[in-house]
Amino acid sequence: MNKEYKKDFPIFKNNPSLIYLDSTATSQKPQIVIDWIKDYLENTYSSIHRGLYNISEQSELLYKKSKVKVLENIWANSIKEIIYTYNSTYALNLLSSSLKISNKLKKWDKVLLSITEHNANLIPWLILKEEIWIEIEYINVDSEYNLDLVDFKSKYDEKVKIISFTHVSNVTGQIFDLEEIWKRKREDTIFIVDASQSVPHFKVDVKALNCDYLFFTWHKVFADTWIWVLWWKEKLLKDLKPSFSWWGAIWKIEKDSFSYAWLPDKFEAGTPNITAAVSLLKAFEYINNIWWYNVLEDYENNLVEYFLEKLNKYSNIKLIWSKQSKNRVWVFSMIIDWFHSNDIADMLAEKNIAVRSWKHCAHRLFWDIWLNHSFRVSLYIYNTKGDIDIFFKNINGIIQK
Ligand SMILES: Cc1ncc(COP(=O)(O)O)c(C=O)c1O
Repeated sequence: MNKEYKKDFPIFKNNPSLIYLDSTATSQKPQIVIDWIKDYLENTYSSIHRGLYNISEQSELLYKKSKVKVLENIWANSIKEIIYTYNSTYALNLLSSSLKISNKLKKWDKVLLSITEHNANLIPWLILKEEIWIEIEYINVDSEYNLDLVDFKSKYDEKVKIISFTHVSNVTGQIFDLEEIWKRKREDTIFIVDASQSVPHFKVDVKALNCDYLFFTWHKVFADTWIWVLWWKEKLLKDLKPSFSWWGAIWKIEKDSFSYAWLPDKFEAGTPNITAAVSLLKAFEYINNIWWYNVLEDYENNLVEYFLEKLNKYSNIKLIWSKQSKNRVWVFSMIIDWFHSNDIADMLAEKNIAVRSWKHCAHRLFWDIWLNHSFRVSLYIYNTKGDIDIFFKNINGIIQK
C-alpha cells in the first residue's frame, strides 16, 4: 500500500502520539465523514417520514439513499428488507422478541449458538430461555478455532429452530466457515448471522451466505454510532409482528385500533438516527473511492503476518487463536504470563496506546477456555507497521519491568 491512510483521520493529527489499536470496538472517522455530518446538520437536517417541506424531503431522500447503498453492498433484494436499529443488542432483541410474539419460537424449541458469541447474540436468547423456556446449546470450536462440525452434527436435532452464529469472532479474529453450516441446515431452521466483525473487513453477500437474517453496524466502518443494519428476508418479515411499535411503524390509527405501516417502516418505530444514517453515505464513498475491500484485504494480510512474526519472538505471550489458521482478520487477543490484562492495558494507556482488556463481551468463551481475561489488539486501515513496532516496544518494556 503506497498511501498513508492515517492522514485521512483527523483524530491522529489532533492526538499525534495516539496509537489506536481498538478498531474492533469502533472505527475512527475520516475527515470526509466528519465534514459531511457537519454539512448535513448545518444545511439539511430535519425530521423524516412526516414533513412536507423542503429539508424534510431532502432528509428523507438521503435516508433512503443510504439504504440503497447498504442494499447494493450486501446484495439484498430491496430496501424493504433493510431496517435500521440502534445497536446490535437492540437489533437482536427486536428480532428475538418479534419471533416470540409471532409464535415462531415456543417452549422447548432449541437455539444453537457458538461458544464464541458476543453477548449481543447471547443475552436476548437467555431472556427467552427465562421467559418461554426455549433451550440453548453451544457449539464448540476446534483446534483451529473454527466451528466444530462434529459437535454441530451431534446437537443439530429436530428441536433446533434457530441457528445464530457470528461470522467473525471479535476475540479470536477467526472467520467461521458458514458455508459448512448452511450446507447442513434444514429448510425449517432460521439461520441468523452476526456480521459485526466481517463487514469491516471483507464484502459480505447475504445471498452467498444463504442466511435468513443478518445484522451488523456501520460505526465499525467509519460511519457515526447508533446505526445498525438488520437485514431480513422479505418473505420472513411479512408474517412477523414487531414486538413494539409507535409512530412511523404505524400506518393508520383509528379511534380504538391501528394498522402497521409497510416494510421496512413497520420495524422502525419512532424517529430514527437520521444523521448516522446519512453519515453512511460518505463512509461508503470513502471506501469505494479511496480504497476498496481488496486493497484492505491485502493490507490486512500484510499486517497480520508482520504482527505474528513479532509475536512469535515472545514465548510468554499466549495468543487466543491457532497460529496455523490463515482464515482470520487482524484481531489478536492475548495473555502474558504473570500479568493481569487490565494492568497491561493500563500501562499501555499511560503511553497513549489504546487496547481493549478483559472478556471483550464474549463471556461464554472465557468460561469455556478457562480464562478470566485477555487484552486485545485490533487494527484497521489507518494502522501501520510503525504502530505495531511501538506496541511491541512497550510490551517489551512492561515484561522487562
Ligand atoms: C461480533 C459482535 N457482535 C456484536 C457487537 C455489539 O456491538 P455494539 O456494542 O455496537 O452493540 C460487537 C461489538 O464489538 C461484536 O464484535
